Amino acid sequence: MAEKKRIGILTSGGDCAGLNAVIRAAVFAAVSRGWEIYGIEDGTAGLLDRPIRYQKLTREMFDTTIMRLGGTILGTTNKGNPFKFPMPDGTFKDRTQEIIDGIKELELEAVIAIGGDGSMDILRGLAKRGGFNLVTIPKTMDNDVGKTEISVGFETAVHVATEALDRLQPTAASHDRVMVLEVMGRDAGHVALAAGIAGGADVILIPEISYSTDKIAEKIMSIREQEGRNFALVVVSEAVKTETGGARQVEHYGGKKTYGGIGYYIGDLIAEKTGFETRVTVLGHVLRGSSPIHQDRIVAAAFGVHAVDLVAQGKFDRMVAWSNRSVIDVPIEEAIASYHAVNQDDALVHTARALGICLGD
Ligand code: F6P
Repeated sequence: MAEKKRIGILTSGGDCAGLNAVIRAAVFAAVSRGWEIYGIEDGTAGLLDRPIRYQKLTREMFDTTIMRLGGTILGTTNKGNPFKFPMPDGTFKDRTQEIIDGIKELELEAVIAIGGDGSMDILRGLAKRGGFNLVTIPKTMDNDVGKTEISVGFETAVHVATEALDRLQPTAASHDRVMVLEVMGRDAGHVALAAGIAGGADVILIPEISYSTDKIAEKIMSIREQEGRNFALVVVSEAVKTETGGARQVEHYGGKKTYGGIGYYIGDLIAEKTGFETRVTVLGHVLRGSSPIHQDRIVAAAFGVHAVDLVAQGKFDRMVAWSNRSVIDVPIEEAIASYHAVNQDDALVHTARALGICLGD
């Protein structure tokens, strides 16, 4: 048994803004309780290697710039599920025991995992199999984790997408163009909807609401003919399908597929149906790499502190969550089971419609 209470912390899945601010908050909260806190490198990958890759985290490390930085100082991974780990010969191996042994070797009394729904599912499976204590913190620019209004990284992504619209507007107006902005968000349209409203979009397309290109063309023509405006701004969420129901995806070297490219499809249709010159910008990972804006730093701080409080209270298998401007905790299982997409009765859907923004339907 370690002399002092010792906990671990890791970041898992795709990075987003605010991860370092979460780590900082957890380190401050743990150290002020007299505990040790080990940062595991590259998510569960650090626990698969021998020697285990980790660093002892101290308050002093976080006294300066780290919480202001994008990315994660611990590194992360969104591949290599240890239940089905891809081996060089093309087979899959169950490597869960190596991770469980790693946690025992480090004598961690609990692990705080900062991740999205996929990572939480894997880590919960590991905790159940290995009998270790787990608390999770939701992070994802997509904001699609269930049972929490906000996940770390979302607000900054909205900020970056809004700023992109601010920059597209003058060039659109100068050239009489329709500007299409494609944003990430996986199967949830939260980023597109929020940034579209904040950035004055005329059309917002999200995967939760089906669209017709005739309706979009009608809206764009009415901007020119009735409002006398010479440009339009369109935001498209990456998982929006083509009119015939196909997903636009990019296959990366090695075979992994991600969403991408629907903006070009929509842009071409708009140009064809309206005669407007159209240009497309795909923001992609730019949405993730920024320094966190203040909302993400606040949520990160509150989540990091609450996660340490849960460990202190011996409350495990819980995810910290944001609800009505306070921090609560919910069973991890419930959060994973309920995907947080945009509801048809979402206040922002109502807001967008009331502002005259076309949602494609
Ligand atoms: O889940 C976060 C996210 O950024 C999605 O919005 C996007 O579809 C995906 O990750 C991109 O994944 P990768 O980092 O593997 O390119």
